[in-house]
Amino acid sequence: MLRGSRFLLIALSAAILACTHAPDEPETAAAPAPAAWTMPEVQGVEALVDENPDPNVVEVSIAASRTKAEFKAGSPTTVWAFNGLLPGPLLKAKVGDEVVVHFKNDLLEPTTIHWHGLRISDQMDGSPRIQNPVKPGEEFTYRFKLPDAGSFWYHPHVNAPVQVEKGLYGPIAVFDPKDPVYDTERFVVLDDIRLETSGAISPESGMDYSMGGRFGNTLLTNGRPAKEATASVEQGTVERWRIVNTANARTMQIGLVGASFRVIATDGGLLPEPYTTDRITITVGQRYDLEVTYDQPGTATLTNYVLSQDSAGKVKEVSIPSFVVDVAASARVPRTIAWPEVHLPSREPDVNATIRLNLQQDAEGNPEWTLNGKAMAPDPLFTWSQGSTVLLTLVNKVNTEHPFHLHGQFFEILDASQPGLKDVVLVPPKGTVIVRAYVDNPGRWMAHCHILEHAEIGMMGEFVVTPKTSAP
Ligand code: C2O
Ligand code: CU
Repeated sequence: MLRGSRFLLIALSAAILACTHAPDEPETAAAPAPAAWTMPEVQGVEALVDENPDPNVVEVSIAASRTKAEFKAGSPTTVWAFNGLLPGPLLKAKVGDEVVVHFKNDLLEPTTIHWHGLRISDQMDGSPRIQNPVKPGEEFTYRFKLPDAGSFWYHPHVNAPVQVEKGLYGPIAVFDPKDPVYDTERFVVLDDIRLETSGAISPESGMDYSMGGRFGNTLLTNGRPAKEATASVEQGTVERWRIVNTANARTMQIGLVGASFRVIATDGGLLPEPYTTDRITITVGQRYDLEVTYDQPGTATLTNYVLSQDSAGKVKEVSIPSFVVDVAASARVPRTIAWPEVHLPSREPDVNATIRLNLQQDAEGNPEWTLNGKAMAPDPLFTWSQGSTVLLTLVNKVNTEHPFHLHGQFFEILDASQPGLKDVVLVPPKGTVIVRAYVDNPGRWMAHCHILEHAEIGMMGEFVVTPKTSAP
């Protein structure tokens, strides 16, 4: 079994700087873009074509269907994909834009699209608790306005352990005309799938998966076996990499060898202060944006550090190149990127809440994962009023890690080593993590473990955020 877990130190006393009070509601009305601004291209993934001439509306078509990919030469793999692409096509837009997605389900089973990290209306969130899943052959139009700039992704929320594993996931880049400008922007979409020797994706079954989540044996980068992902640049270039972990279960440890980098954004957008580090722990669902400076010729390698167990049971770390860039020597001096002013909400909490993550047996003796003692709880775990700041304590009672996700909201982790706005936090085995959740987006929202196999057998609940001014 391959595992990539690591303990995170919880610094309860970590100071979170109190900055200017952020607005209570997601901002939907962004200032119009300056006339000179053009939306950046994003390398590494294919972008959706905007069918609408209105500069403030992005209208696109997405279909989910079965198709073939070839991860091993000569052994085609049946995958499920958006627009036949792996990863699915990039949705790009600017903050404040209205997005219209004409979605068609060409699969043989129902599905939805969830827009992971976008603080949109709950009606458009792809939650099967709200939206009737789109049946095979049917269509649905998603419409929403983009409140935040950043790196996000989309995936189904029906039969997710199977549908996401099979290839249904795609990246989202939301730009702010005030974003720092880079020579190149790239999306690096990481995945971890389990292939049989025949080339087929292993069927979803078995106790291992329900317990530990589905760990794979093949790392993918932008839909290709990790080792094949390459690009070439000139020394002195400065880029923005938007990285997302779309795996079903594998928390990844990544680093960049042969170039320098700093972390500039997290799930909820730009950081007030970018920071440097050697390695990043990116759990499933999370995003990290890096500013990459090619300050030396040679190769720059995004490296995935994976714990691997040999046949004798010995665990050791192996380094897998996940993206390799050839850097041509040049006298070009890298630009220094001026940093815009960014404020996090950092509000003082006014509500306390606790969620216990646990395991129990159902009436038939099968395992089920629970949130506060309930598997797949039909009733909301909490009701909060819009604008509340919830000091949320996540207590993991078991020896398995859980990347915990809230829909429709951002939070800050009370851990100085994990700054920025997040929508997924890794709760280590038997560990406790405290976050400050800014529940500013009204609606009925899912809260679940992003190990999709855990969510599927119970580690799934919801919370309600009541609007500040309710209509009569
Ligand atoms: Cu990626 Cu319920 O979410
Ligand atoms: Cu879990």
